[in-house]
Amino acid sequence: MEKLVSSWFTIKTLPENYVFPAGKRPGKLHAPVSKAIPVVDLEKACGLHGRLDIIQQIMEACEDHGFFQVINHGVQATLMEDAMAVFKEFFELPGEEKSRLFSEDNSQSCRLYTSTVNYRKEEIHFWRDALTHPCRPLAECVQHWPEKPNRYREVIGALCEEVNELGSRILKLICEGLELEKGYLENELSKETSLTVNHYPPCPDPSLTLGLSKHCDPNLITLLIQGDVPGLQVLKDDEWIGVEPLPHAFVVNVGYLLHIISNGKLKGAMHRAVTNAKTTRTSAAFFINAAENSIVQPAKALVGAENPPLYKAFRYGEFFKTYASHSGDTEIVLEPYKMKY
Ligand code: OGA
Ligand code: NI
Repeated sequence: MEKLVSSWFTIKTLPENYVFPAGKRPGKLHAPVSKAIPVVDLEKACGLHGRLDIIQQIMEACEDHGFFQVINHGVQATLMEDAMAVFKEFFELPGEEKSRLFSEDNSQSCRLYTSTVNYRKEEIHFWRDALTHPCRPLAECVQHWPEKPNRYREVIGALCEEVNELGSRILKLICEGLELEKGYLENELSKETSLTVNHYPPCPDPSLTLGLSKHCDPNLITLLIQGDVPGLQVLKDDEWIGVEPLPHAFVVNVGYLLHIISNGKLKGAMHRAVTNAKTTRTSAAFFINAAENSIVQPAKALVGAENPPLYKAFRYGEFFKTYASHSGDTEIVLEPYKMKY
């Protein structure tokens, strides 16, 4: 429990086990907040012409950056604000309350932890606490969620329903953009949704540490509420670029599964989170994910003699195990699944 950064962050100097070696420090903390990450106005996707235009915008964003933001997406702004307030209240709960949920056992579905699942094996930790739990099917999951703050289940339950809907809208647009048969992405490949609430308290020296290391998410797509404090950065052409916090937007990114299913057409982009000295930053990531037993492989419709499959087929659960054991170095996770020609 005393491991949680949110329990002791008011110290003046960064503890040594949070100080990264020179080459691994964040470098640019204030990466240019770039307009390069496209902002897609989903309201414009009504009507055939608008829809095709939005699909094209999403495809370009997924091919160039693996990242885009969506606005006018149908999730109520007040619900998003309420949920972010509830998450903040959660991390401000007294230690005893939080300790009930603290667990370093990856198999526990609802748990609070710090840094990464590999905390015990890490030499250097990340300046981040996280609350994680599944959110689909909602009725089955909700009973395992935090009981405090009192509004948690009600508010987050309502948000999850809307986010799941938004997720399937976005998957439909991507499916169409890839010219895959209807429903190709909306089955076992996107059956699960889990939520991770990242919490980055103010840090005594943001230049020496990271909130989250460079990684690509292991799932299909991620929908992130990044709140109003900057900190998310995306790697593009070897440069870190900041993702501008936009009110009530969702940041959407392509995970490894969609990268593989699209046979490399859509980019599973590397990203990270930096900390700041003044303000607590809380973000909420909804991971739309395959069921453990689903088979993942490049879509048959996207491969052929001219475009051979880049990856072998695999069972998602197996892949995820390897991924989880490699936090901090996710690039090598794809290696065993690459075709060698
Ligand atoms: C994640 C993630 C970024 C952020 O949870 O996988 O990349 O801004 N979060 O907290
Ligand atoms: Ni991520």
